[in-house]
Amino acid sequence: MKTYKIALIKGDGIGPEIIDEAVKVLDSVASCFDFDFEYEEALMGGCAYDITGDPLPQETINISLNSDAVLFGAIGGQKWDNLPREKRPESGLLRFRKELGVYANLRPAIVYDELINASSLKPEVIKGVDLMVVRELIGGIYFGEPKGRDENKGWNTMVYTREEIVRIAHQAFKIAMTRSKRVCSIDKANVLDVSQLWREVVTEVAREYPEVELSHMYVDNAAMQLIRDPRQFDVMLTGNIFGDILSDEASMLSGSIGLLPSASVGAKIGVYEPIHGSAPDIAGQGIANPIATILSASMMLRYALGENDAADKIDTAVKRALKEGYRTKDIAQYDAKEVCSTSEMGSIIANYAAK
Ligand code: IPM
Ligand code: MG
Repeated sequence: MKTYKIALIKGDGIGPEIIDEAVKVLDSVASCFDFDFEYEEALMGGCAYDITGDPLPQETINISLNSDAVLFGAIGGQKWDNLPREKRPESGLLRFRKELGVYANLRPAIVYDELINASSLKPEVIKGVDLMVVRELIGGIYFGEPKGRDENKGWNTMVYTREEIVRIAHQAFKIAMTRSKRVCSIDKANVLDVSQLWREVVTEVAREYPEVELSHMYVDNAAMQLIRDPRQFDVMLTGNIFGDILSDEASMLSGSIGLLPSASVGAKIGVYEPIHGSAPDIAGQGIANPIATILSASMMLRYALGENDAADKIDTAVKRALKEGYRTKDIAQYDAKEVCSTSEMGSIIANYAAK
């Protein structure tokens, strides 16, 4: 029997509720296999600040580095919005990503046939969408120097080094090799020098993957194409801030941001988290959609632990729950047979995953 050590970072807002459901599903699927999980909880975000005065205590980094993978909920909330920048929950998350070296953020956007009416776009435009945003996560304008502000001026710098572009490009091409073998690299090379370098380096790396078709697109056009004809995309490779924006946009193809998982990987330990935020407005009401977090747990099984069969079981269980008409409130208006709470949805999926 193998025991995987998982660091659980529940965070703020709906974080604890959705993580609890993912744990339920993980334990349930493990009962069908020859492994189990040992969880260790760690603090990050506003809750960490409230208890320790730091949104990212060193202990959280230690626990995470000592585990096989990190499962993370969400952080942030109005309560902490007026703190100095370095004390804010978001700063904790950015430092966490940097400390763990998770430079590649993989954000799939899939349209489930069962939920085709949930999107604000027409079914004939989105049917069959299956794309992956590969977002660089620990560089670009989020981290570039110089940055700062005084009373009348605020400034940030978008910087990418050749080395940073090379490693994220390899990730994108490797992922494309397991999919439809198309990479669209997104930049603003008509205006930004940093994007010119990005485009040159991505083109060089592409030579090592002759089977993959590479195209380039300006980010403004990509934002438009994602709505006009999303099926043209397979892997969308992009930098930190463009990927932040485009992945939120892509999530709406699937109907609810509550459905989309992500994996952040790099040299060391991987972090698995839903792409949505902490939704303080609905926290504690039992109405949050746990599916994004449950699918993040599936990505964790697949990418961090190599337990592909178990991951498949979770993915199938989620599809089955949707097919049978179970809906949390965010997607309740679309072909619902039964509207369920966060924990009911978790239990239904956990139950299917154990079959
Ligand atoms: C995300 C979030 C974060 C980001 C915030 C909370 C710092 O929007 O994971 O997409 O901008 O990266
Ligand atoms: Mg974001």
